[in-house]
Amino acid sequence: MIEMDIQNAPKSKGKNLKKRKMNHLIVFCFFALIFLFSHSSCTEKKSSVKKLPVYEASPRLLVFGSILYNEAGCASCHGIQFDGRGPEAEELNQQRGLVTPPFRRDLPPKAIPYKYFQAMSQGTPSMKEHRYQSYTDRGRWAIAYYLYSLSTPIRGHQALIRKKALLKMNQMLSKKYEGKRRLEEGYIPIEKRSKRPDLDFLLSGKDSSTSNKSRRKK
Ligand code: HEC
Repeated sequence: MIEMDIQNAPKSKGKNLKKRKMNHLIVFCFFALIFLFSHSSCTEKKSSVKKLPVYEASPRLLVFGSILYNEAGCASCHGIQFDGRGPEAEELNQQRGLVTPPFRRDLPPKAIPYKYFQAMSQGTPSMKEHRYQSYTDRGRWAIAYYLYSLSTPIRGHQALIRKKALLKMNQMLSKKYEGKRRLEEGYIPIEKRSKRPDLDFLLSGKDSSTSNKSRRKK
């Protein structure tokens, strides 16, 4: 073998050089392609993750929302089947007359997830303490969209009405969020805020705002 190589060497020297150059070119092109591919997919990922405003839904956000729903213990009232029949719901009903709404239900076509977001950010009319401000706006939007997505799907003309309502909502939100990372509506500074509604407190029937006022009156 070695002898043959030595014999062939002088004749094929030029050919080998060309071959080697070709090989280098192929290897170069190969790496150039890999670089281009990885670079383009990177920028794609970056742009789709970075540019999406906090209030806009994506499949990724819905998954995030489902995780947070479980983590926050919402199911203890709203139920693991989203039927408003969690273990705490009945007690809350008996003690305060409050009805925990289900999320698997029909919504009017004009219903928007902003209402859900507000219920978690500012509390509801009869439950001021129903605030989850220890989650970021993005986190609360994630839960809001996830719960909203559980409602009965609508089609045809109704779907068109909803599309318009969502578009209007997004326009309103893009104005509200201009240059901000969170909405100030109902925002309570961290030092004045309890991390999560305390179930024992909720079930005691006291409302933090009214109990403060009544204490002051006394
Ligand atoms: C202690 C029980 C309890 C827990 C825990 C609880 N909720 Fe509620 N939730 C209620 C009740 C009761 C209402 C209705 C309040 C009212 O009528 O003012 C409500 C209302 C809502 C609404 C408004 C629904 C609508 O149709 O307007 C949303 C959204 C909501 N809850 C989401 C959540 C999320 C998300 C969590 C967890 C982060 C959570 N809730 C935890 C009891 C609870």
